Order: sequence, then structure tokens, then C-alpha cells
Amino acid sequence: MEAERPVASHQLSLRDSETCQKYILAVKKANQEKREETGRSPRAYVLTFGCQQNEADSEKLAGLASEMGYEKAAHPDEADLIIVNTCAVREHAEQKALSIVGQYKHLKARNPELVIVMCGCMVTQAFRQNEIKHNYPYVDIVFGASSMFRFPQLLWEHMEKERRLIIPDEETYLVAEGLPVRRNSTYRAWVSIMYGCNNFCTYCIVPYVRGRERSRSKEDIISEVEELVKQGYKDITLLGQNVNSYGHDNQDGVDFADLLALIDNIEGDYTIHFMTSHPKDATEKLIDVIASGRHIAHHFHLPLQSGSDRILKAMNRHYDAQHYRKVLNYLRQRIPDVTVTSDIMVGFPGETEEDFCDTLAFLAEARFDMIFSFIYSPRKGTPAAEAADQIPPEVKSDRFSRLLQQQNEISLESNRRLVGSTLRVLCDGPSKNDPDVWSGRTDGNKIVFFDGSREDIGRFLTIRITRAEAFALYGEKESHG
Ligand code: SAH
Ligand code: SF4
Ligand code: F3S
Repeated sequence: MEAERPVASHQLSLRDSETCQKYILAVKKANQEKREETGRSPRAYVLTFGCQQNEADSEKLAGLASEMGYEKAAHPDEADLIIVNTCAVREHAEQKALSIVGQYKHLKARNPELVIVMCGCMVTQAFRQNEIKHNYPYVDIVFGASSMFRFPQLLWEHMEKERRLIIPDEETYLVAEGLPVRRNSTYRAWVSIMYGCNNFCTYCIVPYVRGRERSRSKEDIISEVEELVKQGYKDITLLGQNVNSYGHDNQDGVDFADLLALIDNIEGDYTIHFMTSHPKDATEKLIDVIASGRHIAHHFHLPLQSGSDRILKAMNRHYDAQHYRKVLNYLRQRIPDVTVTSDIMVGFPGETEEDFCDTLAFLAEARFDMIFSFIYSPRKGTPAAEAADQIPPEVKSDRFSRLLQQQNEISLESNRRLVGSTLRVLCDGPSKNDPDVWSGRTDGNKIVFFDGSREDIGRFLTIRITRAEAFALYGEKESHG
């Protein structure tokens, strides 16, 4: 039989997947029975490490939990189900997740019915699965990043058979569509447009734990964005490890620039962001689409990693500083008010003082608005972790602080240029550190503090910038946007 509309061969549609639905209903029924017994609804607590893709996945895990009858727990202490969605990108993220899960041991002792789940990138690695199997006996269910759609089934089997389920990750090449989502915000939303990565940068674990690139169909993405705009979402971020390769595995010839243009056609009051772009395939066509777009933020996050061609080659990044410079020049020429941010890594194996100075010199020239900076962390199983010329920790941290110091001056200068201008800011509400000061973000993702009121939350405001620091802008509200 012919499908009604083209569905890429790798797609598993969970919209009508009987198996997934069957287990959702089975757990829901068990939870209803428990509620009748105890008079209390079971609650789920989701803790997320890592990038926005993991945040987006966690909203789906929370959505599945909600379909299965779990209410949201505000704190792990009151939860009947704890889901820890892990990250493997640096050692620190892994150690933090393990240490927090270690603290859940006492919760399990207090409430033996508590179910503890670990999932996501870290536990996709076989050695971490083993570690959890042996050293964390109170963790009940473990599954990897591509098996999320099996969560209801695993939970049901665990409840039925009361046994631990540690599922080795098998690369499924699937795009699970139609999973329920419980979004954390009513005005900012993530939309994954593709999963996985084919680039194998030599330092990076992501391709090993997230598998090969799989793109969603443009129809599924567009209808998700249309629905979000209809629901009043104001800020929508398209996610992928390398959004520029969107569509290479689809048959309709729609690349990322085409997809962005199609989304931009959707009528409404919203802004589209996207991340992450890889410099090797950030095209002029894409930049032209942003320049002429109506809803596309004038923000480009373009990770450079290093300013040294020698190191870029060893990283397997497939571009050199000159290529990056060309992309940046075109970007600034076509979109003069663009905010450009980047990722920089120091201490990659073999990085000499000269290589590091190339990075500093490139940053001085490129004048990024902001960077995310990282100290290289060896990842088991990646080529760079095997390199003999690892950089001593004290050299790494010295370079890291020099990097930060230089970039802080550049960021401050870039923010100071905005003093006196008016910017469109999406209001998030009272700031974390001082509830009397309100915060929001510009299209370029810069944080702005101002005097706000409750009805501003989730709305675009026009803010006149009065003061700048390296990491924040301060301003006064002029009007609702
Ligand atoms: N797909 C995106 C980002 C992936 S991870 C991209 O290609 O840019 C986000 C950032 O983490 C990377 O840009 C890199 O700077 C950093 N990172 C990745 N692996 C790392 C490692 N082993 N040690 C330190 N930082 C790392
Ligand atoms: Fe990692 Fe490179 Fe893929 Fe980004 S592009 S996720 S840094 S392998
Ligand atoms: Fe971490 Fe996985 Fe994202 S390793 S950075 S959560 S893709």
C-alpha cells in the first residue's frame, strides 16, 4: 500500500505504534490502581544534563511519564519515578550525574518502590552500563539515547517482573515521531530537526553515543512549528548537532536553508533560532535565507574550536581559519546586526603555546559577541584520547583563564556598543539571583536585566539599553513589542 505522504525509510512512527501505546496504557492502569489504594498520584522527577537536545529529549520523557499517569515532582524526595538523562561530552558531566545518582541511594532505601532510570548519552557507553550494573544496584532501568521510545515498555517490564533492565544500545537509525511532549516553558520551545552526527571530530563522543545522522521529514517539522506558533510560543529553536547537514538522508531535496525558508513562511509573532552550525558547511545560501527572513533571529552560533590550522586538522574539522574567516565576513556583510557566538576548546592534545596564541589572535580578529569555552576532556574511545601528547592540567587551566580574560574584554566591548540602542527582548520573569530584577534574552541570546512586571513574562518587550557588562545588558522597558 502507498503511504499518504512520503516517509523516509528510517522513520518509526510512534503516532500509531501499538506497542508503545500498549505499554503506556498498561503503566497508566497500574498507576491508577495504586492511586485508588493510596489516594495519592505517583510523581516523576526528571533531571537533565548536557545540551539542548537532551533538554528536548527530557521533555519527551516527561511527556511519556505524564501519559503514563505521573504528575510532575518538584523535588526527587517526593518522586516515585526519577529519570536522569545523562551527558557524556566531558568527564565533569559524567561525574556529576554519577554523584547525584549516588545520593538517590538513600531515597531508594526509604521508598523501595521508587523507580530510578538512567538514560541518554553517558549510559549509551558499554563501560558506563557495566559500572552502573555493578556499582549502582539501586538504578532499575538503563537505556541509551536512541532507545527513548522503549521507555514505557521497559518501565512496564520492570514493574511486572521487578527486575533490573540494563539495555545495551543498538543503533536503531530511527526517528521516533509522535512522542508526547511536556514542555518546560509556555513560550520557548525546542524542536529537534535531526538526530546524531556523522562528523567524528577526533575529541568528540557524540557520534558514538548519538549514532549517525537522521533527519525528520519537513512535514513533521513544519507541522510541529505551526502548532507551537498557534499555541503562542514566541521563541522556537531548531536543534541538531550539525543542522547544516539536515536533509542529506531525505529524498525530497530540501536542505537546511530550504527548511528554514519554509518555516519562516509560517505566519505569526515568533522568532526562529537554530543550533548548531558546522563551519565546513555553513553556506552562503543559508546566510541569504537568514538575511531575508522575517522570523529568523540574527544570531549565528558557529563553533570555531581552535584558531590553529594544525589543530583544526588534528580535530578533523574539515575547515581552516581562512575558510571560517570567509564565512564570518559574508555573514557580517549580509547581516550587519548579526550576533555571532562560538565554541572554543583549549588543551587539545599536541596544542602548543603557538597554536593557542593563534586561537587568541583569531578571537581578537573575529570579535565574537560571546564564546562558550571548554577545557579538552579525553573521551574514552575517541582518537584524541589515545594521543600521546596530552596537555598537562596546569597548562590547560592557564590557557583557559587567558582565553576567558581576553574574550571578556571583547564581549564587554561588543555589549557596550549596544548602550543607547533599543532591542527586542523576550521576557523570562524575575532573575534567579535577584527576584526584584527581571531578565530576558535578545534575539542574539544576550541576557538583559530590567524592571518588569508579571504580565511581561513570555512577551516581546522593547528595551532601551542603558548599561553593559561582559555577560549582561541592563535597560529600561519602552513598550510591549
Ligand atoms: N555539534 C556541535 C556541538 C557539540 S558539543 C558542534 O559541532 O559544534 C558542544 C561543544 O562541546 C563543542 O563545540 C566542543 O567545543 C565541546 N566539546 C566536545 N567534546 C569535547 C571534549 N572532549 N572536551 C571538551 N570539550 C568538548
Ligand atoms: Fe561532536 Fe563534531 Fe559532531 Fe559537533 S560536529 S557533535 S563536535 S563530532
Ligand atoms: Fe552531551 Fe549527548 Fe548533548 S553527550 S552534549 S547530551 S548530545
